[in-house]
Amino acid sequence: MSNVVVLSGAGVSAESGLATFRDSGGLWEGYDVQEVASIRGWNLNKEKVLDFYNMRRKQAAGVRPNKAHKAIAELESKFDVTVVTQNVDDLHEKAGSSSVVHLHGMLKQARSEKDESIIVDIGSNPINPGDKAPDGSQLRPNVVWFGEPVPMMETAAKIVGKADIFIVIGTSLSVYPAASLVSYTRKGIPKFIVDPSTPELYSFDGWTHIRKKGEEGMSELKKQLMNQ
Ligand code: APR
Repeated sequence: MSNVVVLSGAGVSAESGLATFRDSGGLWEGYDVQEVASIRGWNLNKEKVLDFYNMRRKQAAGVRPNKAHKAIAELESKFDVTVVTQNVDDLHEKAGSSSVVHLHGMLKQARSEKDESIIVDIGSNPINPGDKAPDGSQLRPNVVWFGEPVPMMETAAKIVGKADIFIVIGTSLSVYPAASLVSYTRKGIPKFIVDPSTPELYSFDGWTHIRKKGEEGMSELKKQLMNQ
């Protein structure tokens, strides 16, 4: 079975109703990323950070996967599919994708602020100041903040290196190291971008850009790949 690897970003969840980060009206227009998604912001004002992720967790729990998530999951009937996502929602899993790597963590998990290996499933529940991890330290979102290492990066790079088909959907490719994954593909494999805009890519050689939103573009690409 051929390996299909999908690298997704916030755009794949846009049609489910979740805001992206850098589009107009995106999350970073309403919040200072350094205040709510960085260690410095956490140390300055834990409550503000917890409120930000509690709001996003509640929102994510209230939406459903869209046709783009479903089309990606349906590729599993013909291909060995791995989704490497920058998203912290679980919409790929809810759509039926069975192999999902979360580069930037997950909203439905919390972790000890002292020990990243101590992870607690919290579903759609909020984390409040004073909520303690098993090691007695404050619980924080199990999300990778700016300036923190991306523990799953090496795993993701190996997965991308084994792709026979590579799909990038709904990411501006503007955040590293995640964006560097595009350079780990083997030479000459078919590579697709599904995005109404143009993500940051050093070169578009060898890429097919389906300049459409996820639901339409991914459904089209799924049909093409299933019939090839
Ligand atoms: N369908 C497909 N793509 C879309 C849609 C849509 N309906 N709407 C927007 N997009 C595209 C945009 O054109 C853009 O290329 O999705 C991308 C969203 O880019 P960003 O907002 O930068 O989101 P993302 O690339 O996931 O950000 C990466 O940055 O802030 C950090 O940790 C955060 O994981 C996030 C990382």
